[in-house]
Parts: sequence; structure tokens; C-alpha cells
Amino acid sequence: MINIIKFDSITSTNDWAKENAADLPLPSLITADEQTAGRGRLGKKFYSPGSTGLYFSLIFEAESGFDLITPASAVCVCDAIKKFSGKETGIKWVNDIFLNGKKVAGILTERFSSNGRMMTVVGIGVNFTTGDFPEDLPEAGSLGFMPDKTAFAVNVAESLLSINGNFSRDDILSAYKSRLFIIGKEIEFEINGRRYSGTAEGINSGCNLIVNTKEGKMILSSGEISIIMR
Ligand code: BTN
Repeated sequence: MINIIKFDSITSTNDWAKENAADLPLPSLITADEQTAGRGRLGKKFYSPGSTGLYFSLIFEAESGFDLITPASAVCVCDAIKKFSGKETGIKWVNDIFLNGKKVAGILTERFSSNGRMMTVVGIGVNFTTGDFPEDLPEAGSLGFMPDKTAFAVNVAESLLSINGNFSRDDILSAYKSRLFIIGKEIEFEINGRRYSGTAEGINSGCNLIVNTKEGKMILSSGEISIIMR
């Protein structure tokens, strides 16, 4: 049974989950219609305006060895979008969900310890009908439908918890790969201030990205890639 806590507006569902972790029954699902300080990966902000999107965090205890939580979450989000709208979304490594060339959802996974227990918070932001993105988010877009938001969040949470209860690395990786649309594409990325480019070849068993560059084969474990448009 998932404990559900709903907010109209909050700073960040991830922050709230982390601040209240010690008092929460697990698993708990925190949802909000708006975030005033939504956070993305790599210290970025996540634009979270009222009513047009859904911002939620699932806090739970991950099973030992379940290190593919973020890829599994990305698959669960794509599956929920398909179930609620029929739309087929794709994944841009590592955890951005795209529809028609636009980023429509993002995932921020954080792990921390509370009262001696390792906790995982998976935070997910989905743009359902948001239409007025700031100029500095040229990649952002919307799904173009509005589901019952609680039902959508519960669907993603239940799918992820069921994988947590009985996970197969092969199944997660193959579901992830089947939605990963960057394979074979020319991409760019930065490591220690230096820019590289190459062809995205695939992912390895840790969901790291294998890229063929002119400097040789490189394995990316985190960071951000951009697709080179020709
Ligand atoms: C990204 O695209 O960089 C990740 C975005 C994650 C946003 C979600 S919205 C719910 C949760 N609360 C936050 O502050 N961030 C995550």
C-alpha cells in the first residue's frame, strides 16, 4: 500500500520527501500541481508551473543490487504515458523522456540515509499541457493531454515498486534500449571542460553510454549529451 500525500504547491517534492523521510511510512508518494523550487539534474532548475504539469516523488527502500532505478523509472514513465494517452515516447540517455523532439519529462533520483536506512527518492516531472516555457528551455515541450494526475503518479509508482520487488537487469535494460532513440546518432558531450563528439553506439550492463569518438571508444556514466542536428 502506497501512502499518498498531495500538495497544490510546494517548493520541491524531492526536498519535502527528504526532509520528512524519518516520519514517513514507506513507500510514500508525494505529488504537487506546482513547484516553486523544482530541481533538475546537474544543479539545474526544473520548470514546474501550476496546473499544467505533475511533479511527484516516490520515496522507498530500494532492494539491494537494484542500481538501475533511474532507467527503470524512465521505462515506467514511458509505459504510463502510453497507457494514459496511447502516445509513444522515447528516452534520451540518461533519463529524459522525449516526444516529437521535445523533452516532456525528467527524472531526478537521489539516495540518502535516514535513521540508518538507505532511502531512495525518485522525483519525476511531467509536462502535460504546459505551453509557455521560458526561452532558456528551447528543448522543452508538452505531451498534449491531461490525465487524472494522481492515477498517473500511482501507476508509475506501482510499476517501479513492482520492479523493485522482483527485478531483472536484462529485462530493464532491454525495455530501456527499445525506447532509447539516440543509438547511431551523432552526439556531443563535455568532460572536465573539454567537448567531445561521436556516435552513440549502445549501453553496457550498467546503462553507461558507449560512444565512438575520434579519440576512441568512451564510456559515459553520467552527464548530459546533446544530439548534433545536421
Ligand atoms: C531533469 O530533467 O533534470 C530532472 C527533473 C526532475 C524534476 C522532478 S519534479 C518532482 C521532483 N522534485 C524536484 O524538485 N525535482 C523532481
